[in-house]
Amino acid sequence: MSEQERGRPDGRRSIRSFVVRAGRMTAGQEKAHTDFWPLYGLPYSPQPADLDALFGRQAPRVVEIGFGNGDHLAQMAAARPDADCLGIEVHPPGVGHLLQLVATGGLTNVRISNHDAVEVLENQIPPASLDEVFILFPDPWHKKRHHKRRIVQDDFLDLIASRLKPGGVLRLATDWVPYAEHMLECLARHAHYENLSPSGDYVARDAERVPTRFERRGERLGHETRDLAFRRRA
Ligand SMILES: C[S@@+](CC[C@H](N)C(=O)[O-])C[C@H]1O[C@@H](n2cnc3c(N)ncnc32)[C@H](O)[C@@H]1O
Repeated sequence: MSEQERGRPDGRRSIRSFVVRAGRMTAGQEKAHTDFWPLYGLPYSPQPADLDALFGRQAPRVVEIGFGNGDHLAQMAAARPDADCLGIEVHPPGVGHLLQLVATGGLTNVRISNHDAVEVLENQIPPASLDEVFILFPDPWHKKRHHKRRIVQDDFLDLIASRLKPGGVLRLATDWVPYAEHMLECLARHAHYENLSPSGDYVARDAERVPTRFERRGERLGHETRDLAFRRRA
């Protein structure tokens, strides 16, 4: 067992849901980091953030975990100016891309974290502070021996439940049906979540959700998408 796979003293898993790829940033993304990170970036710190101070107001708070290149988050923020949107993504080029979209779109309701979402939620996001959390097309980690790397696990769902306000909603989508089944199984047995699906399994795709890069890729490969929505019980 590697150092990374050994359990932590607090019992939470220490296996990461990502590998930091050495993807190159374009010149535009580099420039966006330099010019716009000071305006929209939330530097990681193991202390709870003051979200009202971060966004400069009180408003419904939405978090998107693993936003990729940020297309969905930018369009959601533009469509919902009354909500504050925090994106969390470990991949710096994706962060650079979203910084460009935020700056060119003149979006004032977006902030960005370039850090592991597990640590950000655990340490920076105060309990019961979020209205909505999105996890769209998380890495499916197809091989059985890699399933432990999937971000949607019981302990991460515990953590999200603790950060959602009572009545807050967790929305997920995946184009990998076995992962969708795993999500459904974990959420259905979780005491803190209530399924918003009338049929007790999946929900219809939200027409307002813009297709993400990975969703479009899944479509090209002929994959079926599953959407899930669960409410944090009061
Ligand atoms: C398969 S991609 C999907 C990206 C995007 N949501 C989309 O649909 O196009 C998964 C993304 O999650 C990010 N990711 C995985 N684990 C993460 C974590 N613990 N914290 C932050 N980002 C994470 C990866 O870097 C990657 O960009």
